[in-house]
Amino acid sequence: MDVLGNTISAKVFRFDPDSDKEPRYQEYLVPVEEEISALVLLNRIQQEIDPTLSFRSFCCGLQMCRSCLMRIDGKRRFACITLVKPGAALTIDPLTFPGGHIKDLVIEIGDKNEEDEGDNDHS
Ligand code: FES
Repeated sequence: MDVLGNTISAKVFRFDPDSDKEPRYQEYLVPVEEEISALVLLNRIQQEIDPTLSFRSFCCGLQMCRSCLMRIDGKRRFACITLVKPGAALTIDPLTFPGGHIKDLVIEIGDKNEEDEGDNDHS
């Protein structure tokens, strides 16, 4: 789905088990000049819009550390190499929920699902 102009619309899963009763989605509108990775998009959201958003921001950029594995539009993806165009809309969920979930997009490292491959198309 496309949104107007050079803004990316990101619907992000939010749940803090210490304070929330139910998970919810929060929508962020992020102005961008060019295509960016989903991980950079999350960094922009955290740094410029909402510092309470939790995710693993480390970026090896090599598909090695797997810390950026999450569900993007329902598919298991490496957020570090998943590119998002200006005007796009996407939904970002943690790789696992409720099992192995810690907060927002953060899951336990070493979770069985986290060890599996991402679905990113390498072509
Ligand atoms: S940041 Fe290491 S695999 Fe994506």
